[in-house]
Amino acid sequence: MKDKILVTGGAGYIGSHTVIELQSAGYEVVVIDNLSNSNVDVIDGIEKISGIRPAFEILDCNDCNGLKELFDKYPGIKGIIHFAASKAVGESVHKPLLYYRNNLVSLINLLELMPLYHVKGIVFSSSCTVYGQPDILPVDENAPIKPALSPYGNTKQINEEIIRDTIYSKIPYKSIILRYFNPIGAHPTAEIGELPNGVPQNLVPFLTQAAMGIRGELSVFGDDYDTPDGSCIRDYINVVDLAKAHVIAVDRMLKGQSEADVETFNLGTGRGVSVLELINSFEKATGVKVPYKIVGRREGDIEKVWANPAHANNVLGWTAKETLEDTLRSCWKWQLKLRERGIM
Ligand code: NAD
Ligand code: WQD
Repeated sequence: MKDKILVTGGAGYIGSHTVIELQSAGYEVVVIDNLSNSNVDVIDGIEKISGIRPAFEILDCNDCNGLKELFDKYPGIKGIIHFAASKAVGESVHKPLLYYRNNLVSLINLLELMPLYHVKGIVFSSSCTVYGQPDILPVDENAPIKPALSPYGNTKQINEEIIRDTIYSKIPYKSIILRYFNPIGAHPTAEIGELPNGVPQNLVPFLTQAAMGIRGELSVFGDDYDTPDGSCIRDYINVVDLAKAHVIAVDRMLKGQSEADVETFNLGTGRGVSVLELINSFEKATGVKVPYKIVGRREGDIEKVWANPAHANNVLGWTAKETLEDTLRSCWKWQLKLRERGIM
């Protein structure tokens, strides 16, 4: 058995997929989650896939004393992957303080406790949202950080700054900041996947629910952008590919292979796909029609962004492997599983 890793937000979408990959790489995993955006059944799903039930505690990362008790209960945690955060862009505009408190205090608590418990490194979930609309595409890690378009986006920028300032103060641990592009897809077993609360705000969950007849037509937000077909372009990254990058990052920190105390990597495919292309690929991959209509632009949307993933490819030795079609098939399989379980 390798080292013990604490996964915050491990019952969530990306966290749960990462727990599986950590377990399959031999790590012992402790999951904490306050279940504000997830369900305890996810832990059953993890156990079904890996055959290993991770240690799980319902705990809020804002609860510093609770975190201390956790580190005492599970001695020897060597690394942290910090997923726990509130992530709904629109909600953050209406409830900024909730977002600033949840996303900032959680990280500060962990960073403060790490040296007391001899934790060697923390992997942080950041986002391509920090680039805003990049001037140069594909965007690499040296691109300027643009003013945030939402309190959520701002928390990611501030989180990154907090990490850098803390590490540069000569605290004895390392960090790897991972900037995700647009994670989509589900585990190939369809035992775990993305389960948004209420009406999905993100494209793919809305698309699969529309294809299932749950939501009516998918609204395509704008066909008058400066892109080949007029719809916005994103870099859709398979969630299992994404999860695997976290294992590489943890290995790297714990083996002392980091080239700097804080490293930052884009996690994307390097391929930009438009909304209309994505709908078309889904229909081809699954044979299922997506009812959609073109509507006006969504406020605050970035026109086009996709990653230059060369830094992660070359330094981490990580590449996104899954095809868009296989990934979209996994989304559909997950949607069918939700129907089978009577959830959707
Ligand atoms: P998610 O909501 O599915 O998972 C986050 C989990 O954290 C949830 O299970 C939630 O209950 C938990 N949580 C929230 N606040 C908590 C707290 N204070 N204490 C303990 N648990 C808490 O989201 P996700 O899509 O898996 O995202 C994981 C991370 O990746 C987040 O930090 C998010 O901002 C970041 N990210 C996500 C995307 C995306 O499109 N999904 C893109 C870029 C970055
Ligand atoms: C993708 C494309 C929409 C819904 C958000 C966050 C970002 C990051 C990833 C966390 C856009 C279009 C969408 C719909 C549509 N999250 N769309 N109809 O906006 O790239 O990024 O998630 O860090 O911070 O802002 O993702 O899935 O919402 O949209 O046409 O019903 O699909 O306009 O072009 P986005 P998304």
